[in-house]
Amino acid sequence: MVDSVYRTRSLGVGVVGLPDQYADGKAAKVWQLYIGDTRSRTEEYKCWLLSLLRKHGVQKVLDVACGTGVDSIMLVEEGFKVVSVDASDKMLKYALKERWERRKESAFDNWVIDEANWLTLPEDVKKPGDGFDAVICLGNSFAHLPDFKGKNTKAKKL
Ligand SMILES: C[S@@+](CC[C@H](N)C(=O)[O-])C[C@H]1O[C@@H](n2cnc3c(N)ncnc32)[C@H](O)[C@@H]1O
Repeated sequence: MVDSVYRTRSLGVGVVGLPDQYADGKAAKVWQLYIGDTRSRTEEYKCWLLSLLRKHGVQKVLDVACGTGVDSIMLVEEGFKVVSVDASDKMLKYALKERWERRKESAFDNWVIDEANWLTLPEDVKKPGDGFDAVICLGNSFAHLPDFKGKNTKAKKL
C-alpha cells in the first residue's frame, strides 16, 4: 500500500528503468534526521551485526540498499572493506558526503559507493576478484521488494 503511494508520487528515476521512490528527497531528509546518525543505532544491533560477520570471517561486504550509508559507515569504521549501493541518488548523497568529509581516513577513501538496482546487481556492481564475503540488506529495505503481480504474492523470478 505504502509502496504504491510512493510510486505514484515519485517522478524521478534512480537507476535506468527503476522508479526512485525517494526521488523527491523528502524521505532522505527524514531518514537522515532520525535514522542517519550512526550513534543512534543501538549497541546491541551493532554487536549483533559485527559478531555475526566476524564469526564468519567476513572482510568484504556488499551493502545492498545502503540508503544514507548508516550501516556501511559503521562497517567502514570497524575495518571492513565495504561496497555500498542503492537505487536512490538522494539517499546516496548522504553517504557520499560522509565519505568526502572523511576522505583523509584511508578506510573512507577506499569506501566504494555507487548506484545500483538490486534486481540487476550482477550487471550494476563490479565484484572484487574473489567476490564478496557477505551481502547485507538491512533497515527494512525488503519492504521495497517489487510486487510484480500487485497481490503481494511473489517477487519476479530472476
Ligand atoms: C528503508 S531504506 C533503508 C536504507 C538502509 N539500508 C538503512 O538501514 O538505513 C530502503 C532503501 O532501499 C532502497 N531501494 C529500494 N528499492 C531498491 C532497489 N530495487 N535496488 C536498490 N535499492 C533499493 C531505497 O532507495 C532506500 O534507500
